[in-house]
Amino acid sequence: MKVKINSIPPGPRARGIIEVMNRNCYNSTFTYPLVISGGQGCVITDVDGNSFLDFSSNIGTCPLGYSHPAILEVLSEYSHNGAHKIAGQDYYCKEHADLSEKVRTILPAGFKTFFVNSGAEAVENAIKLAYRKMSTETPSLLPGLSCTNAFHGRTLGALSFTLSKPIQKAGYPELPALRIKFCTDENDSEIESLQKILESNKVAFIISEVVQGEGGYNFASKRFVQNLRRCADKFGVPLILDEVQSGMGRTGKWWAFEHYDVIPDIMSAAKALQVGMSAYDAKFDPGEQGALSSTWGGGSRIDMAVGTATIDVINRDGLLKNALAMGERLQKGIGDLSKDDKTGITGVRGKGLMIGLELDSKSRRDQLLTRAFKNGLLLLPAGQKAMRLIPPLVITAEEIDEGLELMQDIFAQT
Ligand SMILES: Cc1ncc(COP(=O)(O)O)c(C=O)c1O
Repeated sequence: MKVKINSIPPGPRARGIIEVMNRNCYNSTFTYPLVISGGQGCVITDVDGNSFLDFSSNIGTCPLGYSHPAILEVLSEYSHNGAHKIAGQDYYCKEHADLSEKVRTILPAGFKTFFVNSGAEAVENAIKLAYRKMSTETPSLLPGLSCTNAFHGRTLGALSFTLSKPIQKAGYPELPALRIKFCTDENDSEIESLQKILESNKVAFIISEVVQGEGGYNFASKRFVQNLRRCADKFGVPLILDEVQSGMGRTGKWWAFEHYDVIPDIMSAAKALQVGMSAYDAKFDPGEQGALSSTWGGGSRIDMAVGTATIDVINRDGLLKNALAMGERLQKGIGDLSKDDKTGITGVRGKGLMIGLELDSKSRRDQLLTRAFKNGLLLLPAGQKAMRLIPPLVITAEEIDEGLELMQDIFAQT
C-alpha cells in the first residue's frame, strides 16, 4: 500500500501553515486542507508525513507524477545556474528554442507558438490572435462565441467566455459574447443552432473545449465539434480549441481534438506542458513585433526545460498508450463500484485518464471528496456534482487498483 495516514489530515504542521495563509492570503479555491511537502511517483506527501495517492495530478499539472528521474535530472542541471528566471519574451534562450522545436512534433503542421505563464494567459493570447486578424477585416468590436459550462480561465478576456460557475464572473466586466449549447449528445438538435447564429451575427472567433474540464467533465459529441469546424470554415471565423486541461496526452492522444478529426486554427495549452502556450496556424501570426509579449513569457527556463523533458518521457515511455489502458481499467472499476446503488454514482464517462464520475447530489460529492482526502486519496470536483479523476499518466495497474480499493471503502461509508 502506498497510502499512509499517520494523523488524520490536516495534522499539526499543516494546521499551522493553513492558519498563516488564512491570515495573510485570499482564500481561493482550496478543495481540502492538503499542505504539500514532497512526492514520489503517484504519491504525494504532506508536511505531517501523510502519503496520499494522487488521482488529481495537482489539477492536471504533473503528468509524470513526482520526483520523476528525468525531471530531477533537469532540475539538478539548474541547481547551480542562477539565471533560471529570465524575461523570456525579451531575451532569447536555448530552452525556449528547444521547447518550440519539441512541441512542433506534436502540434498540427505549420503551427507557430507563443509561450506564457498560465492557461488563462494562453487563452487570452489565443483570443488576441483571433481579434487581431479579424479586426483588420471588421474594425468594430465583434463578439466571441463560447459554450455553456465553458471554462477558459479567470483573466478578464478569458473570463468573458467562461460560463462554468457564477462565482467566477460575478461583478466583473465582460467582452461581448454570444453563447451556444455545449452538446454531448450526437442527436442534440441544438447542434444546428450555430449555423443560424453565424448567419445573423459576425463574430471574431468561436472558442470551445472539446472535453469540458471545470464545467463537469463533459465530452462533446463528434458531430458538435465537427460542426464547429464546418461553420468556422463556412463563415470565415477562426476556431480556437482550449486544450489546457485535456491536452498533453491526458485523453490518450496528444490533443483531445484528435479524437474528433478536426484541427483548430488557434489553440491553447498549459498545465501538463508546465508553461502556457498559444499555438496557431501561421496565417494568424500578427506579423508585427510587439503585438504580444509578457515579461515572464514561458515561465522560467526550468519550466520550459521540464516541458520539453515531459514530452520526451511521454513519447519514450509510451504514456499515451498507458493513459488509454489505465483509463479503461479505472473506468471499469468505477463501473463495477456503481452497481451498488448506495454509492450515489449516476454515471461515468471518460477518455484515457480524463474521467468524470457523476454523483446524485453536490452534498454527497463534497462529502466524498473530504472523506477520500482523509483516507489518503486525492480526488477533485468538477461542475455541479461531478468528480474528476485525472491520475498522472505514469500510473500503474497496481496503483489504479489501490485507488479503486480506497474508493470502495470511501463510497461504502455513505
Ligand atoms: C480548459 C481550461 N482553460 C483555461 C484554464 C485556465 O488555466 P490556469 O488556471 O492555468 O490559468 C483552465 C484551468 O483549469 C482550463 O481547464
